[in-house]
Amino acid sequence: MLTGGPSSTESVNRGPFLTDVAVVGGGVVGLAVAWRCAARGLRVVVHDPAPGSGASRVAAGMLSPVAEAYFGEHELTGLLAASAARWPAFAAELTEAAGTGFGYRTEGTLVVGLTGDDLAEARRLWSYQRELGLPITPLRPSELRDREPALAPRVRGGAVAPGDHQVDPRRLVTALRTAAERAGATLVTGSVRALSELDARVTVVAAGCGAAALTGLPVRPVKGQVLRLRAPDGGPPGFRHVIRGYADGEPVYLVPRDSGEVVVGATVEERADTDVTAGAVLRLLRAAVDLVPELAEYDLVEATAGLRPGTPDNAPILGPLPGRPGVLAATGHHRHGIVLTPVTADLVTELIVSGAADPLLAPFTPERFAASAGPARRRRHG
Ligand code: GLY
Repeated sequence: MLTGGPSSTESVNRGPFLTDVAVVGGGVVGLAVAWRCAARGLRVVVHDPAPGSGASRVAAGMLSPVAEAYFGEHELTGLLAASAARWPAFAAELTEAAGTGFGYRTEGTLVVGLTGDDLAEARRLWSYQRELGLPITPLRPSELRDREPALAPRVRGGAVAPGDHQVDPRRLVTALRTAAERAGATLVTGSVRALSELDARVTVVAAGCGAAALTGLPVRPVKGQVLRLRAPDGGPPGFRHVIRGYADGEPVYLVPRDSGEVVVGATVEERADTDVTAGAVLRLLRAAVDLVPELAEYDLVEATAGLRPGTPDNAPILGPLPGRPGVLAATGHHRHGIVLTPVTADLVTELIVSGAADPLLAPFTPERFAASAGPARRRRHG
């Protein structure tokens, strides 16, 4: 890896390369790596045919280390918590560097169940989360309604995860791009068909699902359909918490923004197309309106689908690729790309600048899939 301390370009051994760091992929992860590396004095080029147009554009932006702590994912939960803990400082630094905000909000998340069965399912998960010591507190129905009067009277109960926050990923892309460019990074609008095209000392593959074709890593598309609603008359939504609910067995999340937007998501489908289907829209809207009836009066302004980069263990792939000197992976973030952005950017940058691998990275190295990673095929990344 490159050597040299913070903001020190003189001591960096650049060798014959045009660039210190080529980042393949201009979503939130790639742009954050580019920003952090450029801020450390490295020459950085980001390659993407349409920066911010992939999973980052569809994502709702929940920063959910607690509500997304699932059975059997201890190590991933640890990384989510570590990254969420970095978010306040990361957000402050990025706001300063970009000169713009990106909808970072800290009201917390309510996890609710519509029926008795839904509540039983939610309770089982939050009991597990509490056993892990994560901050989630069951509420009495009256406490729940005091917090969010917009919830339907039928909602049986819920809990609050006060540390699960939110950000607007589209504005985050804009801020990261501005910060990266202000720090000296260059954006090249174009596809990379093979990593051998790049003249860089270090290449970071942050191409989401496109990483599979470029590296042979086992990254698969996991489709998510997402809706965007808008509150009537230009006002803000009638609720302020992120709401994650189970409604007659249908999991749904509702993310309110100051702009009046409410993001309603999402399906989880083992498919590679980005078609929006009537059935998915129907299920998402029904679940959303069952939990917050006023949403029936909102405008439906967008229905879209994105492809999450999933991996065999649904955890990200972070670190040097075995047998590919100078190539690092920062992909496979699946459902967690936005919350994992700070820890990914910081740890990958440190790896590049000093060669130091933070112990947090150990469970997420590409080596764990070494047997399954075949030779990279030549295909465009998206
Ligand atoms: N993190 C939310 C989703 O992937 O739908």
